[in-house]
Amino acid sequence: MKYGYFDDLHREYVITQPDTPLPWINYLGCQAYFGIISNTAGGYSFYRDARLRRISRYRYNNVPMDFGGRYIYLRDDDSGEFWSPSWQPTRHELKDYSCRHGMGYSVIGSTYSGIEAHTRYFVPIDENLEIWQLTVTNHRDTKASISSFASIEFCLWDAQDDATNFQRNFNTGQVEVEDGVIYHKTEYRERRDHFAWFACSEPAAGFDTQREAFLGKYRSWDKPATVEAGQLTNSIAHGWQPIGAHQVKLELAPGESRQLVFVLGYHENPSAQKFDPPHSQTINKKLVKPTIARYLDLNNVEDAFQKLQQHWNNLLGVFQVNTPDVHTNRMVNIWNAYQCMATFNMSRSASLYESGIGRGLGFRDSNQDLLGFVHMVPTRARERILDLAATQLPTGGAYHQYQPLTKRGNNDIGGGFNDDPHWLIVGVSAYLKETGDWSILDEPVPYDNEPGSEQPLYDHLQRSFNYTLDRLGPHGLPLIGRADWNDCLNLNCFSETPGQSFQITTNKDGKVAESVFIAGLMVYSGQELAAIASRRGLHAEAEKYRGESARMEAVIREHGWDGEWFLRAYDDFGNKLGSKDCDEGKIFIESNGFCTLAGIGLEDGRAASALAAVGERLATRHGIVVQQPAYSKYYMQWGEISSYPPGYKENAGIFCHVNPWVMIGETRLGHGDLAHDYYSRINPSAREEIGDLHRCEPYVYAQMIAGKDAPSFGEAKNSWLTGTAAWNYYAIVQWILGIRTTLDGLQISPVIPTNWPGFTATRSYRGVTYQITIDRAGPGNSIALTIDGLTIEGSVVPPPTDGRKEVTVKGVLS
Ligand code: BGC
Ligand code: NOJ
Repeated sequence: MKYGYFDDLHREYVITQPDTPLPWINYLGCQAYFGIISNTAGGYSFYRDARLRRISRYRYNNVPMDFGGRYIYLRDDDSGEFWSPSWQPTRHELKDYSCRHGMGYSVIGSTYSGIEAHTRYFVPIDENLEIWQLTVTNHRDTKASISSFASIEFCLWDAQDDATNFQRNFNTGQVEVEDGVIYHKTEYRERRDHFAWFACSEPAAGFDTQREAFLGKYRSWDKPATVEAGQLTNSIAHGWQPIGAHQVKLELAPGESRQLVFVLGYHENPSAQKFDPPHSQTINKKLVKPTIARYLDLNNVEDAFQKLQQHWNNLLGVFQVNTPDVHTNRMVNIWNAYQCMATFNMSRSASLYESGIGRGLGFRDSNQDLLGFVHMVPTRARERILDLAATQLPTGGAYHQYQPLTKRGNNDIGGGFNDDPHWLIVGVSAYLKETGDWSILDEPVPYDNEPGSEQPLYDHLQRSFNYTLDRLGPHGLPLIGRADWNDCLNLNCFSETPGQSFQITTNKDGKVAESVFIAGLMVYSGQELAAIASRRGLHAEAEKYRGESARMEAVIREHGWDGEWFLRAYDDFGNKLGSKDCDEGKIFIESNGFCTLAGIGLEDGRAASALAAVGERLATRHGIVVQQPAYSKYYMQWGEISSYPPGYKENAGIFCHVNPWVMIGETRLGHGDLAHDYYSRINPSAREEIGDLHRCEPYVYAQMIAGKDAPSFGEAKNSWLTGTAAWNYYAIVQWILGIRTTLDGLQISPVIPTNWPGFTATRSYRGVTYQITIDRAGPGNSIALTIDGLTIEGSVVPPPTDGRKEVTVKGVLS
């Protein structure tokens, strides 16, 4: 069953039924002001940090689901009937309901009783505000008297406190209303210099700012007493729950259409200019008023929308492809790239599964995310890398997370995840391959944000690598620390206490448990670092990294190989995980995926054997599960992994983040058919037809699809914010389509399905646009390239030396 369709031309997904299996969301904003918006206008907004600067309120895990949003009500003032054109919160039976989720905007609307209404929601580029642009059309053959109400519930800024500390926060709420604009100023009297505002383009017939006045006692958002009565009450909030609500009356002749704009914004005043007059308690509105005025003018709103579209055209235009597979095309050209920008902006902080109060920006996560967005926003990638590196500890280890607002490492979680530092090497290398901007390596960056501790970024990379050399275990493999990529493999946390955090509790000395996955990652990061060092002329250094990488590869062969596949780890007792000798968890995806991605065992058949075992034992029609057999009970010595019922999350769920490692491994073996087959199994667009099973959005990846051991095999969860976005993008673009960035330039090395006659692509790279055509002349993967008609050796396109900005690349596969 499908709940909508892809409109690829407009880069939209059109939802045609409001009661999707789960709320299907989109993101608004891409710089500092952000929001999530569901297909029925649910969701919330925040400035930079979803926890510390929450602008509007949302109640996670509520019933009915997805309540709290940017709600507009229409009321027929003749009959008294009212409804919401976005379906929620009144849930009337609507005609022609649709929600168009597009690039940075959503348009939600419907027709009810002859009145059509659509609202376009978006955040203009370079502004800290969101626009709700409402168009109402009267399709009746009589005139219509319509009241429209727009409402938002303010959050008292710190979303955690807002949801828990009621003894205090029921007493702090404050607002001002001036010239029809509602200003939410809770805590402005003390240490906050910021406020939110909610304005309307038409003279208001009334407003409300106190929630109870708007809703009425014991009522919910589906039936506000004021909307029912047809008149807001001009309430002024003090304490309790401040809201913003505006009422506008429209008289519509038959066929007439009217547009209104509601704008919700955030503003920060310089602290010395908070009040006007200076010694009063009244907000100084002088600095914000021009912005308010600008966006209440419909012409400016239209311009802002055009600018937003241009912004996305530019970003997505960096890489576009045309293959024989529609699902590949739309994910690569539109949605997967778009999702990569969402993970760049949000890391893992705010989605329908990440409450915005839990996690900051992950060190490992954000570095991996770079793989998916560096080509679209290289300057911001540079900034992100420097921010991440500044949270690195002098040991070379890293805070596992940092808070976006303060850019400081998060002490609550700390460090000790021993894979973390290597991802910095992977991230920086991706940046260099994209941009060729070697100056980043000389950029002075502090450790732990400590002024005076600055060292060139290159020094951070060295310490990242040495961190592991200093932490090898009994077999010479890297010690795992609190966990590696698999956050739930907590081999040094033997926990018997309910509720104790597996991630931050460590009660073993950590000197025994080792990770074959980190070993594979180190082999890879060592190769990357060696390549970087030798390009800088540091040949002895390069030799060292190459040597250490090779040495670790030998250790993996000796102690990390189980006969048919790569082992996963050794636990605190020195027992194997991911071995045929284990009762459960005999084989894992991570070590087999990453070791083959790193090229280990390509020559001696081990890579082929390992991936064949993955294919046989872990691959399912819905994707590749983490391990098999699933853990059927709790094993204290292995941590959180066995806390999940079989088939969910890290306990044999299909973790879509790691499936691409296998896809890349398969391309390294030359298996284009299988690589693309694995790609298609988890491609959300290819799963659209099974919407009732998949349940999450068909336009973005979810972190997990339930594995074959779960009763809900095939059901996705945790959509949007996952390393899945970057890794799938990277696997399909750079390894299957084979348009790969390298330190020396753009490499063209496709490993595509045998039945594809070829494909075309456009890639902007280091200031040059490459028009690429690949034709298949035979079933293999060897490529013959001509550049502007001239044959070249090898597969790396030499950058034009004569200043040309357009290059034509033709490749023939045989
Ligand atoms: C989840 C992991 C996640 C970790 C983050 C665990 O409960 O299963 O996927 O990375 O929490 O703290
Ligand atoms: C999600 C986390 O964000 C990521 O860092 C981790 O690697 C995976 N879960 C697997 O545990």
